[in-house]
Amino acid sequence: MEAAEHTNIGAADPPAVSGTERSGHMERWYSRASVRRSPRRVLADLDPEHGLPFTPELVPIVAHPEVVRRGPMMIHRILTRALGDHLRFTEELENEVVVPVAQRIQSGAIFPWLEPPARIDAGRICVDEAYHSLFSRDVLSQLERLTGVRCSITSATSLERLDARARRAPPQMRPLVSAFYTIASEVVVSGILRTTPIDRRVAPIVRQVIADHLRDEAAHQAYFSAIFPEAWSHLGAEERDFIGPSLAEFVTWFFEPKYAAMMGWLMAEGLEAGTVRKIMEDVMEHEGEQEPLRHRGAAPLLHVLRSGDAFAHAATADAFSRCESFARRRSVEIRHDRR
Ligand SMILES: [Fe+2]
Ligand SMILES: [Fe+2]
Repeated sequence: MEAAEHTNIGAADPPAVSGTERSGHMERWYSRASVRRSPRRVLADLDPEHGLPFTPELVPIVAHPEVVRRGPMMIHRILTRALGDHLRFTEELENEVVVPVAQRIQSGAIFPWLEPPARIDAGRICVDEAYHSLFSRDVLSQLERLTGVRCSITSATSLERLDARARRAPPQMRPLVSAFYTIASEVVVSGILRTTPIDRRVAPIVRQVIADHLRDEAAHQAYFSAIFPEAWSHLGAEERDFIGPSLAEFVTWFFEPKYAAMMGWLMAEGLEAGTVRKIMEDVMEHEGEQEPLRHRGAAPLLHVLRSGDAFAHAATADAFSRCESFARRRSVEIRHDRR
């Protein structure tokens, strides 16, 4: 397939922020950032009458008849684990990847061509992310104490894969791999966080915690969308050949359902191995994995890549094409296997 065809990926997306535009939020950071204005969130209670611990559509196993027939308390416990998993992953992502990248942008070690105001914005983002990590750990500790549920580390997989991917790059390129992972993640995370704060079935305290995060991430999305075209234009040929296809891998990781985690939650509920396998097969068959990337929330990132002309780079365009066709092929294979 020609690279030019890929320039239409996500063609109906909203307009991107221009390279010079500031989000406005970062200028008013001192009065608007969650770390500056939000109170500590305290989980006084998370019993069913206070609402759900998490949006159920984000955890498709809870709609499976084998789970539903076991009653609302099992659903509640699984959603509690999903909330814990979300908090733990947020803490790890911020601490291990986003905070160090933001620090390096502030210092000029990465993207040294950025103007001083943009480097100061990176420092503000660094503070935001450290705070997201802090309140995620704080609420997770409260959650575990309150419910007795121990949240496993199953969702750290994408950070392990980032490590493995970065190790395949020449040592001098590794900081850039993390930086572009951060750009990709920051461009799509608002869309991922947006569902739960407006879900009135979810307990207000949980919605507030995620809304605290979302408020900051909307500004971060504008910042990283704005710097992508220039960041991409500064890459050398070898760097583009490695980082462009890596972006396609990253976006696949962001939107693939957490099957391993969900399996673990079912097993923690004491379900038999055969029942767990049946639930997972059914969920995988019906999940939106076969959806085009833009329908799975990747549209803002695809738009940003287009704005930087990244799809004119053949290896990048091909990698994105492969993850689209992989999703379609996998969907067909799952259906075929079930016959
Ligand atoms: Fe964050
Ligand atoms: Fe962020």
